[in-house]
Amino acid sequence: MAIVCKSAGEIEKMRRSGRILRQVLDVVTAAVAPGVSTMDLEHAAEKKIRELGAKPAFKGYYDYPCVLCTSINQEVVHGIPSAKRKLNEGDIVSVDCGVVLEGYYSDSAVTVPVGTISEETQKLLDVTRESLVRGIAAAQPGNRLGDIGAAVQEYVEAAGFSVVREFVGHGIGTKLHEDPQVPNYGQREQGIKLREGMVLAIEPMVNLGGPAVRVLEDKWTAVTEDGRASAHFEHCVAVTKDGPVILTV
Ligand code: MF3
Ligand code: CO
Repeated sequence: MAIVCKSAGEIEKMRRSGRILRQVLDVVTAAVAPGVSTMDLEHAAEKKIRELGAKPAFKGYYDYPCVLCTSINQEVVHGIPSAKRKLNEGDIVSVDCGVVLEGYYSDSAVTVPVGTISEETQKLLDVTRESLVRGIAAAQPGNRLGDIGAAVQEYVEAAGFSVVREFVGHGIGTKLHEDPQVPNYGQREQGIKLREGMVLAIEPMVNLGGPAVRVLEDKWTAVTEDGRASAHFEHCVAVTKDGPVILTV
C-alpha cells in the first residue's frame, strides 16, 4: 500500500477530527480517580464523541468492542474497558482513543496517574511524554522515518527504560491505519524520506523494565513480560514545510 499525502484542506479536516478527540481525552482524563471503573471511562468517552458529532474509530475495528483502550500498569496497550476493573490509587492508566469526523480519522493516547503515584512511575510518564515530543520534532520534511524512531529510542534508553517493538505508530487519514509503519526505534537517516502532507500517528510505548510484551488470552490486552509498568502517549502529526504540526490538540 502506498503512502497517501494529504492536501492542506485534508489536513484541516484532520485537525478538526483531532480537536474533537482531544476534548474527549480531556473529559476522560478528568474522570480518572480511585474507584472509577474503566467502563465508566468508556461511557464518558462515548457520550462525548457523540455529543461532538463524531464517531468512534476503534469500536468494531477488527471486532474491537469499545471506543477506548484502557491499559493499567503492566498493561501496555489494547486493554478492554470493564465494569469490574476499578482504578486504584497509585495506578497509571493509558487511555487510547480514535474518532472519525467526515471521513477523517484521528488517534491519540495519554497515560494518566490515578491519585498519587511513585516517583519511579512518574518518571516513566515524564520520559514517555518527552520521547513523543522528541519523535514529533524529528517529523520534518527531508528527514527519514528512522530519525523519528531513533529520537524516541535514544531518549528512552538514556533514561534507563525500554521501547516496545511489537507495536508501532502508523500513517493515518481516511483510514485509521495507513502506511507507513512508524517504529519507536531505529537508526537516523534510515528508512523512507518524510514528505510534506504525510500524517503520522507517533505513539511510543515505554516499559520501566525490559521491552518484552505478550498478549493475554482475551486476544487484545498486551502486557509486559516482566510485569513492570508501561506508558503510552500518542499524537497525530502532519509533516509540513513549516515543520511538524500536531493535529490532536
Ligand atoms: N490506537 C491503536 C493504534 O494506534 C488502535 C487501537 S486498536 C483497535 O493502532 F482495534 F482498538 F482499534
Ligand atoms: Co495509533
